[in-house]
Amino acid sequence: MDKLIITGNGPVNGEVWASGAKNSALPILAATLLSEGPVTISNLPHLQDITTSLELLGRMGVEPVMGDNMTVQLDGSKVEHCHAPYELVKKMRASILVLGPLLAHFGSAEVSLPGGCAIGSRPVDLHIRGLEAMGAEISVENGYIRAKAPGGRLKGARIVFDVVTVTGTENLLMAATLADGRTVLENAAREPEVVDLAECLIAMGARIIGHGTDTIVIEGVERLHGCEYSVMPDRIETGTFLVAAAASRGKVRVTRTRADTLDAVLAKLEEAGATITTGDDWIELDMQGKRPKAVNIRTAPYPAFPTDMQAQFVALNAVAEGTGTVIETIFENRFMHVQELNRMGAHIALEGNTAVVTGTERLSGAPVMATDLRASASLVIAAIVADGETMVDRIYHIDRGYECIEEKLSGLGVIIRRSAG
Ligand code: EPZ
Repeated sequence: MDKLIITGNGPVNGEVWASGAKNSALPILAATLLSEGPVTISNLPHLQDITTSLELLGRMGVEPVMGDNMTVQLDGSKVEHCHAPYELVKKMRASILVLGPLLAHFGSAEVSLPGGCAIGSRPVDLHIRGLEAMGAEISVENGYIRAKAPGGRLKGARIVFDVVTVTGTENLLMAATLADGRTVLENAAREPEVVDLAECLIAMGARIIGHGTDTIVIEGVERLHGCEYSVMPDRIETGTFLVAAAASRGKVRVTRTRADTLDAVLAKLEEAGATITTGDDWIELDMQGKRPKAVNIRTAPYPAFPTDMQAQFVALNAVAEGTGTVIETIFENRFMHVQELNRMGAHIALEGNTAVVTGTERLSGAPVMATDLRASASLVIAAIVADGETMVDRIYHIDRGYECIEEKLSGLGVIIRRSAG
């Protein structure tokens, strides 16, 4: 397995561009299944999960036509098989996002049920219950969700989510665009990626209001058409670079990004002592050589502090002045990075869903193991500030969510290389 070899080399400095957002590109790729014409998507990140998504659509009969710079054209009217096989879904649980569009456009779907993952059990019961409220008949057999829309069309419904779910909101939002009548989604997710998906659906002819709030209203239409759409910048990748600069007392400018999607993260970085300046499509962080101060974090649905930035801030607190508590409220098992950071000399105590991080002046390089996507980002940040060499194993996790990580970090002065396993 590939590994990343990183040698601590002082402050991160320079400029880096943000890629398109993984968690927006994945639902938008699934949404092309709703259209009766070609949809051209640009600013797609070059990531393993995007490749898996395109392979999944190809298996259904929707052959991707690649253009320059990761632009792809997809025509949902070409679907031949409404089937998402286990061997692809097990690689990427976000494959569940094809369930709503297939059911809404073609009246049936067979999708492998995603299993658990490193960060939690992650059930999809709210996706299924929402589609049943829209009239779908659903059974789960042999590891597959089998769904049918009686009469070939879903019906509008009022759906109240028990807990805020991002892909749950996205699946029902997509399904509702072709349903008969009005759908109201309450306690819906407000993440910027949900808004980006809604904007793409509106460009395809959907009738949606309230996206970005906790109540989304969708008037179903007969059909959706093709469009051109550019995926929003990745706020989590952006945040990861900013934290790397803060932890290493450096200065970084992230371009092609959006500060308005990162309010909670930027506020915590300022609390840690960073000077933040922003422009239309850039964010600059400067620590002026200062050591960061520890901050307290509590993850929650948007616009609160994102769980996908939790691990990176644990690494920041590990070298900060003082003690910070980090409370994870979204996933039940999202502290796998803690023991690995402690192997590098961090002082982190775990109590249930809380990590108490007592900052230390220096970390030391060590062989460590990535366990999930954001945990691997926190290990890379720790390696950047540690003395000596760190070897991060199982980096297939990081390739799922960070485009050209070693090229981008090298451009910021980090000594990093990939060793093929
Ligand atoms: C999305 O996952 C993101 N993935 C995750 O990013 C992110 O961590 C998460 O939202 C929270 O922000 C994509 O967008 C592809 P949820 P999702 O449904 O939609 C429970 C990354 O690092 N729940 O919002 O799967 C669930 O168990 C990834 O890029 C149910 O109980 O997360 C969790 O505790 C990791 N039943 C909570 O809701 C359901 O049917 C929130 O999960 C659905 C969810």
